[in-house]
Amino acid sequence: MELKEIINKRQSIRKYKEGDIPDKDIKEIIEAAGKAPSGKNIQNWYFAVIKNQEIKDDIAGIIIKKNESIAVEMDKNDRPKADRFRKFCKNFTVFFTKAAALTVVYSTFYKPSGFGEYESIGIDPTLELVTKRNPGMQSLGAALENFTLKAVDMGYGSCWLTSANYAAIEIEEYIKNKTGFEKEGFFMAALMSLGIPEENQKSPSKKDIDEICTFIK
Ligand SMILES: Cc1cc2nc3c(=O)[nH]c(=O)nc-3n(C[C@H](O)[C@H](O)[C@H](O)COP(=O)(O)O)c2cc1C
Repeated sequence: MELKEIINKRQSIRKYKEGDIPDKDIKEIIEAAGKAPSGKNIQNWYFAVIKNQEIKDDIAGIIIKKNESIAVEMDKNDRPKADRFRKFCKNFTVFFTKAAALTVVYSTFYKPSGFGEYESIGIDPTLELVTKRNPGMQSLGAALENFTLKAVDMGYGSCWLTSANYAAIEIEEYIKNKTGFEKEGFFMAALMSLGIPEENQKSPSKKDIDEICTFIK
């Protein structure tokens, strides 16, 4: 497929047809992700692919449980807001159980240029260099965009998910206990669902070029 066609065709896929994706295809997608640029070529990513239905369902269960534990506390102050949080979880997080594969995306902390230098002159670098501009997560974003585009190129669909990150620690723990998999020094940063897309899925519109670009003269 032409790059232009792939970019235009890419959309978040939350509804999947039943069916497997061969491991070699998933590897090709992750290989494309790994070709992305990264600050100082740190390649601060690692992908744990889960096709096992029981494990996918368990992870969804962990997210629902954590969501409910937060929502119950929110109920005390604002019930409608808590219910919206519950609904969001149901609609925008756990759909990955129907996808052929769930990829748990791990990352590492990346000390941006200037971090140590700021510290050495007594300035806390966290807000300016990590929280706001976060080059480590920019690198990961480049890899995940490659993931989504390669998936489209191969006729698959994916959805990038960070809304389950409030359950990240529980998910990491579960994977470690259930499967023995643990990536030393890494933390879960996102999930990527991957599967065979159902047709005719809606996608929100994008801003016009004039809204996102200025040529400064
Ligand atoms: C960093 C990031 C996090 C996202 N997290 C979620 C998520 O948790 N759940 C979800 O359904 N979609 C998630 N999305 C998908 C966005 O909602 C989607 O990209 C956006 O609405 C635009 O739609 P499109 O991808 O179809 O163009 C995420 C996308 C990005 C880039």
